[in-house]
Formats: sequence, C-alpha cells, structure tokens
Amino acid sequence: MEKKVLVTGGTGYIGSHTVVELQKSGYTVIIVDDLSNSIQKVVGLIHKITGQIPIFEQFNLCDSDQLNLLFEKHSNICGVIHFAAHKAVGESVGQPLKYYHNNLLSLINLLKCQAEHGVDKLVFSSSCTVYGQPDELPVSESAPLKHATSPYGNTKKICEDIIRDTVGTIDIRAISLRYFNPVGAHKSGLIGELPLGTPQNLVPFITQTAIGKQNVLKVFGDNYNTPDGTCIRDYIHVTDLAKAHVVAIDRLIQQKNETPYEVFNLGTGNGHSVMEVIKAFEKTTGLDLAFEIAGRRTGDIEQVWADTSLANLKLGWKAELGLEEMMYSAWIWEKNLAAGIVNQS
Ligand code: WQD
Repeated sequence: MEKKVLVTGGTGYIGSHTVVELQKSGYTVIIVDDLSNSIQKVVGLIHKITGQIPIFEQFNLCDSDQLNLLFEKHSNICGVIHFAAHKAVGESVGQPLKYYHNNLLSLINLLKCQAEHGVDKLVFSSSCTVYGQPDELPVSESAPLKHATSPYGNTKKICEDIIRDTVGTIDIRAISLRYFNPVGAHKSGLIGELPLGTPQNLVPFITQTAIGKQNVLKVFGDNYNTPDGTCIRDYIHVTDLAKAHVVAIDRLIQQKNETPYEVFNLGTGNGHSVMEVIKAFEKTTGLDLAFEIAGRRTGDIEQVWADTSLANLKLGWKAELGLEEMMYSAWIWEKNLAAGIVNQS
C-alpha cells in the first residue's frame, strides 16, 4: 500500500527537512502550507534533494472547507505530521489572538477532518517551552508543565491538552514531540532556516552577523547562574529532529505505540551556553564573530536541556550530529542564501 502522509507546514524549516526524510523513507508526501512564513520555492529545493516532487497545496488549516476537500481528494492518507502554526515567541506577546486563533483552530479543524475521514494517526510539533524553567535538569516528559512564558508557548500546551483529551473520544492515535532548540541546515545546503525579517533566534542571527547582514550579535545577558554566565539550551540538528518524525509516524502506522497518546522529548541531552555556541561557530568556520554583551531578554529562561532517555528507549532514536556540524551546516546555508540559491531555484 502507498504510504501517503500529509505534512502541514511542510515548506517551513522543520517541515521541509522532515519531508526530505519522509521521502527518503519511501513515503509519498502531501504538503499543505499557507506560505505565511515560508516560500513555495522550497518545494522545488526538496525535489532537487530527493528527486521526488511533494504534492503541494496552499491554504490555511483554519479554512475547514479546503481541508475537507483535501482529505476527500486524497482518500488514502495514512497519517498526518502537523507543523503548521505561528511560532514567533515575541510576536505572540504582541498579537495573542492571532496565535490562539490560528494555532488552536488549525489543530481543531485537523482533528475533526481526520476523524471524519478515518485518518487515525497524528504526530504533533510541540516544544520544550511547555516546561518553562524546569525545577530539575535534565527535564523529562514527566516533569510538571509550567505556566507558559508566551502565548506561543501556551498554544503548544493547549494543543497538547486538546490532543490528549481527544484521542480517548475519537479513533486517533497521536504522538507529541517536544523540540528543544532546532538549528542547522540540510547537508546539501539547499534547505535551511529562512527567517523572514530580522532573526529572533540565536543561530540565524550568528550566521547573518558572520555574512554581514547584521552588524553585531548581542548576547542577551552574561550574568545568569551558569558556568560562563550565558543561557544554556539543548541545540539539536534539524536533520536529527526530522528523522525522529519519521520514526514517530512509523511507530503509529506499525501500531507500536503503547498508549493512544505518547509524548517524547527531542533534544541531544546536552546543554550548551550561548558563548559555547559562538565558540563552536568560530572553530568550525575559522571566522571571528562580532558580538557584544547586552542586557537580558525578557522571558528568557536560564537553562534547559532534555532527558532523552524515553525517545532513546521507546523510539530507538538518538540525535547523532554535534554542535560543530550544526554550526557548519548553518553557515553553508547562509552562504548559499547570499549566493542566491533560493532565487535561482
Ligand atoms: C537561544 C539563546 C537567548 C538571540 C525559542 C522558542 C522555542 C523555539 C526556539 C519555536 C537564549 C540567546 C538569542 C540573540 C542571544 N521556537 N540569544 N542573542 O528562546 O531558547 O527558544 O526558539 O519552536 O519554542 O522559545 O531560542 O534562539 O531565541 O535563544 O543571546 O540575538 O540565545 O537569550 O539564551 P529560545 P533563541
């Protein structure tokens, strides 16, 4: 039977890398994306990498009529990987209703459509942000979830609750994957993070500073209670993250899930400070990065890294790529962007 998977948000950063890994694993992929935070050229770049063209449809999942039509058109979808959501933490603080409306209604429409069309497998893109500042580190899936520090993070918590409460009432089995900090780019240098406007996240700001698009990297605080005073995060290569999504959808399709709803941390289990990330970037590229110490960023937690033992044990998945490969691949991608690789595609 053809293994056809719907990937919502499939032209986005993590979505596009996951489409590549799905195709490499023999899946036929349908991408739905409203292109609000990505570009359609990514479909052609995925084709260049894998030799397979994903089916692409452009609409927002809040449009339930379009979503129903898609499920009617593709009657043999065996599962869904749901990335489509607004994800800018800072923007969510200023525009909470935009985030609650889009991120919650998209999921609700998707679950309803899946139930109506008998598509009973869902992998959901969640985030370590649901933990807030954990009481214990590394943080495990059983840790108490904290009050979200942003509407974005709260939508992830609420979406997890919606899924958990729904799987018991309709025939759906689901897995939520809590990402730590996805960074880096595909080894081909053809796809990667495409921040629209000034990057909010550390690694794209580093590479844009190195290429000259930004003047200097501001390090948001060096007076935290950490070894070098800067915040610690669990950075994970986006390709390792993408591979975990294939393992998760395989698990559901092969009915290996032990309960109707499972949650897994996707990190490396290693924390690195901002300064360690900068040093890894400089070491792997041979460049001196222009940075300066600035004040703390509101809402930042001090340190978090994953307990990955559950994913290692149950999924048989473990992140393989290290910080230097993350930095090197991000740099190659930034240089390819500057050379116009996306526009030429
Ligand atoms: C990492 C560290 C900053 C920029 C967020 C979301 C999370 C996920 C990933 C969506 C922090 C420091 C950053 C800069 C800096 N998003 N920093 N100078 O905040 O850990 O996670 O993005 O899924 O849900 O919460 O990632 O890359 O913004 O910051 O010093 O210019 O780098 O203070 O310590 P964050 P980040």
